[in-house]
Amino acid sequence: MGAAMKTNPKTFHVKSFGCQMNVYDGERMGELMAAQGMTATDDADAADLVVLNTCHIREKATEKVYSDIGRLRKHAGAQGRAPMIAVAGCVAQAEGEEIVRRAKVDVVVGPQAYHNLPELVARAASGAGAALDTDMPAESKFGALPRRRRVAPSAFLTVQEGCDKFCTYCVVPYTRGAEVSRPMAAIVDEAKALVDAGAREITLLGQNVNGWRDADDNGLEALIHALDRIEGLHRIRYTTSHPNDMTDGLIRAHADVEKLMPFLHLPVQAGNDRVLKAMNRSHSRDSYLRLIERIRAARPDIALSGDFIVGFPGETDAEFGDTISLIDAVGYAQAFSFKYSPRPGTPAAEMGGAVPAEVMDDRLQQLQAALNRDQAAFNAATVGRTCTVLIERRGKLPGQMLGKSPWLQSVHLMTDAPIGALVEVEIVQAGPNSLGGIERVRKAA
Ligand code: 5AD
Ligand code: SF4
Repeated sequence: MGAAMKTNPKTFHVKSFGCQMNVYDGERMGELMAAQGMTATDDADAADLVVLNTCHIREKATEKVYSDIGRLRKHAGAQGRAPMIAVAGCVAQAEGEEIVRRAKVDVVVGPQAYHNLPELVARAASGAGAALDTDMPAESKFGALPRRRRVAPSAFLTVQEGCDKFCTYCVVPYTRGAEVSRPMAAIVDEAKALVDAGAREITLLGQNVNGWRDADDNGLEALIHALDRIEGLHRIRYTTSHPNDMTDGLIRAHADVEKLMPFLHLPVQAGNDRVLKAMNRSHSRDSYLRLIERIRAARPDIALSGDFIVGFPGETDAEFGDTISLIDAVGYAQAFSFKYSPRPGTPAAEMGGAVPAEVMDDRLQQLQAALNRDQAAFNAATVGRTCTVLIERRGKLPGQMLGKSPWLQSVHLMTDAPIGALVEVEIVQAGPNSLGGIERVRKAA
């Protein structure tokens, strides 16, 4: 492969793995290529160019890229086609040249360089061999991205990237780089454009979104107040936050800003102080629990979400028990949980005390049972309440629509309200993963 001449792709398909920032990046890459005259297709197996927007957070996610490439090639080969393959995202950043060696792909582009994707694709198409760009330029990619024309009612907006926290298990500080905040004016501009393009809710994204700072060192609450003033924007959310960056000002915003939804994803990872220290989390079990108390004092109905890792090196049964008791103490509305996965280049990968696979499986099961129980209880407690639902898409049944409650639960209801409408809904039924409601009042379209 390599120097063989390829034709310029006319159709493309972007497949994003992992976090919401990848979803955002994937959309932006799609817009970039559409601006070049290429056409998006939903069918990866029919596209001239497939962009795999990858995740490096756990080993399984990384290996998925290689199996996907193999599958794509095999399927296309059977039809006598050889689509161009671009690897974007965090695996591209972490493995760079290695991906070209191992999987012979045409383009490798990192998360801070994807504004160059059309140029890289053109270079690869010219027969010059694989085109690589994993630079982290000081100049931000955002200025080079096209304006957005049509978006879903709930849109993502990246405001901050990178992480300086260096939790010992995590690759993010290496793949996404140091913490960088986008300027307030650029974000407000993009938010207004999103609202003009149909957004009613904006979720501010960042690996450490509450570490966002403007040029005068004001925190995320300043940005939230600025977005609060945008007419036509009804809901603001933000994710993912680090406990240490939950300032008094930001907590107060949860009491003061009506558009700021009562939901907070605040990962704790583990409930035991020795484990937290070994993870370099720089907060303790107690400081986290006290923080939750302050947040709940500001916004009593807030729904809390978290991330958990089981089987960190050296984690004992008793230490794992502390994670379960922390879950019992907090009562999460929802959460994500993972088995520890050693990542190359991280300090934890060098630690002894690997937890056996069966023990990990067992702990994950116990953890998920506790989290599922709390999620079901949280959902059940919403029955009888009336809340606003943002209609996001059609349901499976005729006349049924799906939307989100303020607490980020999926709600299905029968209504003729269009996508993007805000409807007052009485919640009448709760399942483990969604709610059922009855329309009471239409608020806005
Ligand atoms: N192994 C397992 N889970 C991890 N996470 C991050 N790194 C690892 C790892 N090496 C989890 C954390 C983080 C979420 C995005 O992924 O819980 O909050
Ligand atoms: Fe990874 Fe920790 Fe940074 Fe989150 S705060 S991205 S877990 S290093």
